[in-house]
Amino acid sequence: MNVRKLLDDRLSDAFGSISKEPTPALVSPASRPEHGDYQANGAMALAKRLKTDPRALARDVVNAADLTGIVAKTEIAGPGFINLTLSRQFLTRTIVRPDLVAQVPQPDHIVIDYSSPNLAKTLHVGHLRSTVIGDATARTLEKLGHEVYRQNHVGDWGTPFGMLVTYLDELGQPTDDLSNLDQFYALASERFEKEPSFAERARKFVVDLQSGEKAALTRWKQFIDLSSAHMQHIYDRLNVSLTPNHIRGESAYNNDLAQVVSDLDKAGLLSLSDGAKCVFLEEFTGKEGRPLPMLVQKSDGGYLYHTSDLAALRYRHRILEADRILYFTDARQELHFRMLFAVAQASEFIPKSTKLEHHPFGKLLDGSGRPFRSRDGSAIPLDQLVDEALERARAVVKSKNSNLDDHEFDEVVRAVAIGAIKYADLSKNRVNDYTFDWDSMLAFDGNTAPYLQYAFARIQSLFARAKIDLKSYREDISLDNPNERSLAVQLCRFQETLELVGREAMPHHLCAYLYELTSRFMRFYETCPILDAHEKERASRLAVCAQTAKTLDTGLNCLGIQSVPRM
Ligand code: ARG
Repeated sequence: MNVRKLLDDRLSDAFGSISKEPTPALVSPASRPEHGDYQANGAMALAKRLKTDPRALARDVVNAADLTGIVAKTEIAGPGFINLTLSRQFLTRTIVRPDLVAQVPQPDHIVIDYSSPNLAKTLHVGHLRSTVIGDATARTLEKLGHEVYRQNHVGDWGTPFGMLVTYLDELGQPTDDLSNLDQFYALASERFEKEPSFAERARKFVVDLQSGEKAALTRWKQFIDLSSAHMQHIYDRLNVSLTPNHIRGESAYNNDLAQVVSDLDKAGLLSLSDGAKCVFLEEFTGKEGRPLPMLVQKSDGGYLYHTSDLAALRYRHRILEADRILYFTDARQELHFRMLFAVAQASEFIPKSTKLEHHPFGKLLDGSGRPFRSRDGSAIPLDQLVDEALERARAVVKSKNSNLDDHEFDEVVRAVAIGAIKYADLSKNRVNDYTFDWDSMLAFDGNTAPYLQYAFARIQSLFARAKIDLKSYREDISLDNPNERSLAVQLCRFQETLELVGREAMPHHLCAYLYELTSRFMRFYETCPILDAHEKERASRLAVCAQTAKTLDTGLNCLGIQSVPRM
């Protein structure tokens, strides 16, 4: 249940009955425990408008609001804040609900375009943020019951592939191993630039490919399959939920591009500039106020990144019937997406009611504030990054000296390694640059994945010692101790947090939530006897623990992070 929304609805009704028009109650979680559990800040703005005393108004709102069975205590504080304390009965009822996450009444069709690397290169750290943040958002929206369409808009078409395939075929050795793809790519580009006859052969390949020549298509497909298998291998290692079914790359739109351009023309949007076809929209200007074009077809007839994106938008609208389309790329593509959305709407390729959202993120930096790269300045392949994470996690887990068997040990190492990489990224507000730091992400205390995973494992061991199966555990909850109550309040905020993440595509809210949950659990765990408590209290406390574990597990799952029963 979304408690914040419930309170907001009830109080907004009361505000509305007084002001005789829709008035937001502005309910948010209380900033401090002495302010109750939630607070409503709407009285100040309304009092200003009605020119009355905000405290008296707040009092009237509280009297008019239907909060029975939900709120035990209200208090008017300061200039007119309404502080709300949930009733014990409501807290326990909310906690013991069998379905932890309520499904949206009307699922949206949500397209999520993420990861989307270029298949001519090895998957490297530059693709990490889009992959991890997009995946967490997709999982969260799915958990809420939406119809999610993952779209891996890979770069799989154009000159780079002509260059690569020509190079590989002339190498005279089997090339079904692409672990050196970046090196191949660099050597192929070099020859492409320096050797006109090579460039010509590569271009011919692209022309053949574009005209649908069979042999070229087969060879191209062979290469793409190989490169995407490599990509899939890395997704699997990273526990990313993308599969080959989600790939719908630039090449998939190849046959639609001419139509896109002619439809832009029909919509009266096409201009010619130096022989190239482009769209000018008033709101886009470059240096000195000169109009900025969005190029859709070069003078040699070739199409561009924008063009396939327009075609992809139409597919997502017409075939996937998207209500919302989310794109996760770094902030440098901001202008591309602003223009894309504006042109898609101006041409009526997409109705105004479809929400188009670019969710940018900042750069990945190293400790000295430079782009995070390997020593020689090249981008670090993700495969290598995962290897290093596993190695470091192995040392960290080993130092815990738990008696895990080999198989369990490997499971824990994997969960900790992948969890650490993902969580460190996800826990920061994505719009900012983010500094990659092994030591802090693998720490067992602080806002890290291992800290949360450890708390989960601790609860499991509690249940193992109590000889109760956590999954089937349900009991009445009494919440007598303040630390126990504070944990319960946090448990009640899970739903509203997931909904916030889904709305804003900002997984750091979920991380902050889980961290707070874990901290409250630790305080409870350290101050309240559980297994040694009296019978009734013991049952109640175990129930709170069970719910905490379930929430942690589900929350981590939404982030694409595994929990483990023992650590
Ligand atoms: N392949 C692009 C890149 O590597 C990202 C694609 C993002 N998605 C899109 N529909 N444009 O920069």
